[in-house]
Amino acid sequence: MKILFLHGWQSSPGGLKPSFLKDHGHEVLNPHLPDDDFEAALRIAQAEYNQHQPDVVVGSSRGGAVAMNIDSGETPLVLLCPAWRSWGTATTVKANTTILHSEADETVPIADSRELLRNSGLPESALIVVGTEHRLADEESLEAMLKAVENSGQSTGGDVLIRPEAPEDCDSIRDILIAAFANHPYSHQTEHLIVEGLRADDSLTVSLVAEVDGNVVGQIAFSPVKIGGRDHGWLALGPVAVLPPFQRRGIGQALVNEGLKTIRDLGAQGCVLVGDPAFYNRFGFRHDPALRMEGVPPEVLLCFPMFDEMPKGTVTHHPAFSIGE
Ligand SMILES: CC(C)(COP(=O)(O)OP(=O)(O)OC[C@H]1O[C@@H](n2cnc3c(N)ncnc32)[C@H](O)[C@@H]1OP(=O)(O)O)[C@@H](O)C(=O)NCCC(=O)NCCS
Repeated sequence: MKILFLHGWQSSPGGLKPSFLKDHGHEVLNPHLPDDDFEAALRIAQAEYNQHQPDVVVGSSRGGAVAMNIDSGETPLVLLCPAWRSWGTATTVKANTTILHSEADETVPIADSRELLRNSGLPESALIVVGTEHRLADEESLEAMLKAVENSGQSTGGDVLIRPEAPEDCDSIRDILIAAFANHPYSHQTEHLIVEGLRADDSLTVSLVAEVDGNVVGQIAFSPVKIGGRDHGWLALGPVAVLPPFQRRGIGQALVNEGLKTIRDLGAQGCVLVGDPAFYNRFGFRHDPALRMEGVPPEVLLCFPMFDEMPKGTVTHHPAFSIGE
């Protein structure tokens, strides 16, 4: 891969991290960025980007802020402990960004990267917590950087388009839900009826589909929930399904990530679901003892508060969820 590596303050080209990437077979462009002039550093990085059109831009510390403040189109970013608070004006990053940060970083606190995720509507899975200090110079961090760089170019499993459902998708959505839940151990095989019930009641707040080569192969639904008998602006995620032959290609994760971004943009206060933590933890979902649901084991009732407020009480889905029970 062709990598534009933007070094940090008081660092210089040819350091440990770009050398590590080079030693693993990548072409690394590693311009000198002046310490005393951020604007000049931006101009140099932008010119290098424009001239070489790299596959990925990696920015370390102040170089991370440089990466965030140049125009790099759709090119993925890998940011190492980015010092965005101290340098430049950008406070968000694009969707295809991966951040590596050490919990023990005393130079740039990891809280800054968590804030960057929140600002950008990115899931927690976009932050890789690794290393023992700011420089991320240990072997594990170098390997994690290499992996993040090499994975950064991968799309979500082919040419996948995530878009809102259209009226003509209804039959495909039904077929997907029936096929995906056919052998699901905890399903009543009523998911297609749930979605149709929500749609008929105008309570399908968000329904996104995944399209591959013009065919709809996945769907995700969000609908309003009550917590403690009240509407707190929270939504339930579910069902989410991908046609079996298309599973394990990243489509389910793309649906969840795009769905969360969409409901956040709509002003949702949080999201709740019943599901397997092994799948949902990666997006930032957690169990919280403030929430309960009749007949549901606590460990599979998961929530994702989008703001500080955490409502308390019993979660009640839309009545369509009881269809066929
Ligand atoms: C769950 C589902 C939507 C995931 O879609 P997908 O396109 O296969 O998922 P992705 O390829 O994006 O993600 C794959 C990852 O999810 C994990 N995963 C997939 N289904 C999982 C499940 N039911 N439980 C736990 N993990 C699961 C895989 O192990 C993989 O993890 P890894 O990257 O760490 O190896 C899909 O498998 C599906 O339709 N399943 C049947 C219906 C269902 O169970 N829906 C969820 C409950 S509402």
